[in-house]
Amino acid sequence: MRLNSPQINLIIKACMKASRSLIRDFGEVENLQVSTKGPGDFVTSADKRTEKILIEELKKAHPEYGIITEESGMINKSNTDNRWVIDPIDGTMNFLNGIPHFAISIGYEEKGEITCGVIFNPITNEMFVAEKGSGAYLNNSRIRVSNKKKIKDALLVTGGPKGASKIKDKIFSEYINISNNVSNVRKFGSAALDMAYVACGRFDGYWQRELNYWDIAAGIIILKEAGGFINFFDEVNNNPLKKNIIASNSNIHNELLDLISK
Ligand code: IPD
Ligand code: CA
Ligand code: CA
Repeated sequence: MRLNSPQINLIIKACMKASRSLIRDFGEVENLQVSTKGPGDFVTSADKRTEKILIEELKKAHPEYGIITEESGMINKSNTDNRWVIDPIDGTMNFLNGIPHFAISIGYEEKGEITCGVIFNPITNEMFVAEKGSGAYLNNSRIRVSNKKKIKDALLVTGGPKGASKIKDKIFSEYINISNNVSNVRKFGSAALDMAYVACGRFDGYWQRELNYWDIAAGIIILKEAGGFINFFDEVNNNPLKKNIIASNSNIHNELLDLISK
């Protein structure tokens, strides 16, 4: 049975509130007003609405906490000890196209370490929850990463490159190298759910370059608490909000790292 701390309860409450309007918006996806934020990256009014509700709810309980968000940037910048890391809709492209594979992702960071997180797909009603030292859960069931032993049998997931990426060739050649050495590779369009799916053993591993911290903050603790290993490689311009990640079960982690660095 999952025991929730006040912090987790707070995140869940915010998620449930925001998801009500998100579900409505998904139903009306064709009427949504879409504005471009840059090549390959769209922001919808639903994104902004969802984020506003999440921020309001979280701020009610802790007005002093820092917040790193995709749409509103940084709030209470000086508080770096306690921060929420929010992606209101991870999987915007799926959302916009009526594909029910997207999630609200919220991580809580204490003194630089993510200590709890929630990833919630409001359409499938799957909620992934974890807190440091307490395990990871999908709804009320404990989850664990897969036990796949050999990378050649592994089903992996990845994402990118974005339309504007300047390292497409590198990303594609990595893809070829990895796909030649594993059973198969999927690309589902939500980094948060990719991490959550590795955490519950649906995928054996995940890798991706050019991520933002909010894409994966909640996923970090969910995956760790599910027994997974995470590695950040090739630091991006000393920018702590940009990440390249490998996340997998413990058995195939080193082999996957080797494939990336080849
Ligand atoms: C995107 C998704 C996608 C990943 C992109 C992210 P967004 O987030 O996580 O899977 O490949 O790099 O930007 O824009 O849908 O919040
Ligand atoms: Ca995202
Ligand atoms: Ca987003």
